[in-house]
Amino acid sequence: HQCCFFCLLSRSIMNIFVRSLGVGIHQTLLKLQPDYECTLESLVGLIETPPQQEMGDYAFPCFTLAKVFRKAPAQIANELILDLQANLSESSLFESFSSLGPYLNVKVNSSEMAKQVLPEIHKGNWFSKNSLEQKTQVMIEFSQPNTHKGFHVGHCRNVALGDSLVRLFRYNGYQVIAANYIGDVGTHIAKCLWFYQEKNNESPPYIHKGEWLGELYTASTLALEGQTGSEKEETQKKISALLAKLEEKEPQITQIWEETRNWSLEDFEQIYKWLGTEFDHVFYESEVDEEGKQLVIQGAEDGLFQKSDGAIGVDLNDEKLGFFLLLKSDGNTLYSTKDLALAKRKFEEFGIERSIYVVGAEQTLHFQQVFATLKKMGYEQASNCFHLPYALVVMPEGKMSSRAGNVILFSKLQREMCDFVRINYLESHRESWSDGEIESTTRKVAVAAIKYGMLNQDPNKQITFSLKDWLVSEGDTGVYLIYAYVRIKSIVRKFENFDPQAEIDFELLKHSHEKALIRKLFDFNDIVYQAAEQYRPSLLTRTLFELCKDFSRCYSSCSVKHAESTELKLARLNLFSAVAATLLTGLNLLGIEPPERM
Ligand code: ARG
Repeated sequence: HQCCFFCLLSRSIMNIFVRSLGVGIHQTLLKLQPDYECTLESLVGLIETPPQQEMGDYAFPCFTLAKVFRKAPAQIANELILDLQANLSESSLFESFSSLGPYLNVKVNSSEMAKQVLPEIHKGNWFSKNSLEQKTQVMIEFSQPNTHKGFHVGHCRNVALGDSLVRLFRYNGYQVIAANYIGDVGTHIAKCLWFYQEKNNESPPYIHKGEWLGELYTASTLALEGQTGSEKEETQKKISALLAKLEEKEPQITQIWEETRNWSLEDFEQIYKWLGTEFDHVFYESEVDEEGKQLVIQGAEDGLFQKSDGAIGVDLNDEKLGFFLLLKSDGNTLYSTKDLALAKRKFEEFGIERSIYVVGAEQTLHFQQVFATLKKMGYEQASNCFHLPYALVVMPEGKMSSRAGNVILFSKLQREMCDFVRINYLESHRESWSDGEIESTTRKVAVAAIKYGMLNQDPNKQITFSLKDWLVSEGDTGVYLIYAYVRIKSIVRKFENFDPQAEIDFELLKHSHEKALIRKLFDFNDIVYQAAEQYRPSLLTRTLFELCKDFSRCYSSCSVKHAESTELKLARLNLFSAVAATLLTGLNLLGIEPPERM
């Protein structure tokens, strides 16, 4: 994203360690060569984190300076060390400087870092640090299921991704509108209703009526594929006639449309509720249909769009995007028609400055064409429209397809996940916990497993769904993170009168494993910032997974109970409860709500 680099830079400059180091290096370099021209910002931009903790907390690569200073990078690093040691000896921020090849490596004084972050976490200030800057109105459109079709595992990826981005952007201070855009018109509905009226003789079930409709839609597609010759033609005519009636809003079919549409909508509502996802606004394709048509006709009158064989489209050849069809020759609307009206509403009714569409990668060309058309229509906001494409969710045996019969519909996914959780993780609590707690914990764990599995991969990479792998408690899973959280909470809970607000001696936290944890907590806000700007919740899943591993490692060598002194015990409790708070905040940003005990 355009502002990313500078924002990241200004964020690094807010980091007191990086900033002081940058200032120190800047002064030294000017001393070495007074006419050296270089801004503080560009130096700060070079500071990185070494790959291994032993090397140091921050590193400054000297090879880019070799040319200007006519010296080997390693020599520059050594000269920097000497000068920094002298200059920064007053500062309590740094512990040591060393060189490794062309790198200057720096260890910070970790008690200073702890002092910056721990009290802020316990006071509740730390996790709102990111919200200071932005106020841009952002709309994140996601989920967008079609009525009369089944909602399956694949659809969960979109929900998990969109929902997490909404949370990440809000955390970073944006004004976010979470939007849905439901496909409730079009050929697929005519197909489904043809089958419903002519072939089906079952009555709808009491629950999951929408899913049942989706099965009729699948049956309809399969039936059509099985037909040939005149029979097929006959069916296609019937479906077209049905579509025409739907578009004319013929009363009888409209009533059936409304009733069946509601079945799907009710299902969707249940699904979102179970997943803990909320929308601020829901658009429907049916409400932008007419408006889209008017926009296109107007555009053609204004000479912006072109007629071609009775249809209307826009010539995007200057952008190498071909001819984009906007209205059929029979005057019926297309998917594209509606997207123009939808975007207009987003800009004009909602004042959206940055508009994000979370939609499968197969629609990439469509969105390039939509955004190019909006630009031609004069919408400046078109340049801040962004399609976030994501790859498929596949099964271990390959692509999901209704013909192969390996589509996992939502209700089955939900049932199987919950059964697994109940049997494998909650059986031992059946006697002592209330049914309510068993049920709510089951849901939380199952949702964590699904969402984590869906987010733990970059959007552009395919995901292989595996219920068993996603539900194990050891490894890179949502269940593992939940266990870690619950475990830390129970450790802290044992010390009843521990007060996280009480002052501690930060100097005591000097074990390398404790230092690693402190650094992770210190970096948390930067990661959240980047996860949003790069549209990659996977950056956060990785950080949280590492935080949990670092915690386990630390806890096994830095016991609370067997700490050498009461002061050390309190310092560790303070650190560990800050880890729990960070983990909780991070999980919430993924849309995961951990239980308090397991
Ligand atoms: N309902 C559409 C589909 O299932 C996705 C809609 C995406 N959003 C949009 N503004 N076109 O393919």
